[in-house]
Amino acid sequence: MTDKDKTPKPTTPAAEYDKLLEMRGIYKSFGHVHVLKGIDFHVNKEEIVALVGDNGAGKSTLIKTITGVHKPNKGDIFFKGKKITIHSVNQSRSLGIETVYQERALADQQSMWRNIFAGREITNRFGIIDVKTQRKETERLLRESMGFTSKAITVDSQVVFLSGGEKQGIAIGRALFFNADLIILDEPTMGLSLSETKKVLDFTRKIKEHGKSAIFISHNFYHIYPAADRFVILDRGKIAGDVKKTDISQEELVLKMENLAKTGIFE
Ligand SMILES: Nc1ncnc2c1ncn2[C@@H]1O[C@H](COP(=O)(O)OP(=O)(O)OP(=O)(O)O)[C@@H](O)[C@H]1O
Ligand SMILES: [Mg+2]
Repeated sequence: MTDKDKTPKPTTPAAEYDKLLEMRGIYKSFGHVHVLKGIDFHVNKEEIVALVGDNGAGKSTLIKTITGVHKPNKGDIFFKGKKITIHSVNQSRSLGIETVYQERALADQQSMWRNIFAGREITNRFGIIDVKTQRKETERLLRESMGFTSKAITVDSQVVFLSGGEKQGIAIGRALFFNADLIILDEPTMGLSLSETKKVLDFTRKIKEHGKSAIFISHNFYHIYPAADRFVILDRGKIAGDVKKTDISQEELVLKMENLAKTGIFE
């Protein structure tokens, strides 16, 4: 077996489907609190969709119904053209859906190569972790896929020494390595400085360069606008707007969001 053979295969071959992810009529309540009220939402192939909306609008809840954390009360989810029911985070991962959170993205005290393969180690035929291949693949991922150029960062570097933006980059790189088709970024730039944010936005662009898609959640329009192809606006559990970047300027988007907060209408 060559090293190349050990690289995980794409989850599906170039399949024929129109939308990568499609959600139809999604409802989710917690007790008497109706959080999602009939959401229609989709992500196309090679598309970065920004999911925006006020605190408590239901953004995280919506993505948690995709990642198997919450089961919707009603509605259908289609992934790569097939209707799916997601029961667990592991199941959504194996379908090709990965989430990158601001917190808990990586284990700080561990090396880069251990983090990349945590929980999905490459093992030899005796079931023992193949350290050499993991280090080599991590090196390749860092330099070739993610474009890490700093000599100070090696596969053996402890993650604790990375900046916030670089950590997000590693988490995105890991998702790409395992051939996630849809990478969900829930507030990946929260609490980061401008230069660190720029790194995360650069890594987000890599997702598209690799032919994959992403859902990007953030409150900051100056972060989302350059990164996204389309903006989906969630307001109190309903879709208030869905607009392509080619149809709206950053200034217009900000104005319409301000108007939404005042009048409840995205216009
Ligand atoms: N497990 C839960 N149990 C009860 N209520 C919940 C639960 N999860 C979320 N909610 C409620 O659902 C609503 C939407 O929460 P959600 O986290 O989806 O919002 P959000 O759009 O991600 O907000 P933010 O921008 O602040 O992250 C909130 O009112 C929240 O209190
Ligand atoms: Mg949230």
